[in-house]
Amino acid sequence: MDVVIAPDEQIGEIVADDIAALIAARPDAVLGLATGSSPLRIYDAVAERVARKQLSLARARGFMLDEYVGLPPGHPCRYSTVIDEDFVSRVDFAPGAVRGPDGDAADLTAACTDYEESIGEAGGVDLQILGIGTDGHIAFNEPGSSLASRTRVKTLTAQTRADNARFFGGDIDAVPRHCVTQGLGTIMDARRIVLVATGDAKAEAIAHLVEGPVSARWPATVLQHHRRVTVLVDDAAASRLELADYYRHAHAHRHLVS
Ligand code: GLP
Repeated sequence: MDVVIAPDEQIGEIVADDIAALIAARPDAVLGLATGSSPLRIYDAVAERVARKQLSLARARGFMLDEYVGLPPGHPCRYSTVIDEDFVSRVDFAPGAVRGPDGDAADLTAACTDYEESIGEAGGVDLQILGIGTDGHIAFNEPGSSLASRTRVKTLTAQTRADNARFFGGDIDAVPRHCVTQGLGTIMDARRIVLVATGDAKAEAIAHLVEGPVSARWPATVLQHHRRVTVLVDDAAASRLELADYYRHAHAHRHLVS
């Protein structure tokens, strides 16, 4: 696991550099897209490069992580609407190139199976962008999630519903109780993973993710078993890392393999 502690202003550009390098090597790369406020700095940096014609996602494809259950297409809080506004409509993906799980399907189990199949048919995710919940969830894999789980329906914790109420006008009762989410096993299949977190509220979850024991209690800890993960955090999110000085040192003196 690479832990990179960087100023918030640099985080978007660092990940945009990674995405640009991936697209240069493989223009039809598959990106894993997270919703939430953490990836916005990445989407802004990528959108700027696309606007300046330095980068094109015209042949790339994208898969979202998760979706609320029961929000119809076009609902302002539905993640497919959110990712469209935050990212897809600002870049040059081909129509239909970005897909998400259908949380409004009549048969949610079938929709989850379909979604797993569509990721497989696309050849899997090359670069997965992740945020992290204050309770250590990634996508919507709440504490107790099987470390081997696949896309399925989950029940949100009270903590997650409270954290996400800000997107529903502050009304926790408006936040759905259920979601469909890629499983931890699904996410672990991505060839590379970049997790971004900023601010004090994420410090506890980041400490568990990087230095805690692997446990379903803090689902993000499963990433310790992935071979290519970068955890990109600002000083505040890194503030509870016991080995923060070592991570800074290791990054400053990283061995660049030719
Ligand atoms: C939601 C999403 C996650 C996201 C998390 C943190 O629960 N399902 O994918 O990582 O929120 O969001 P934020 O980045 O806004 O703190």
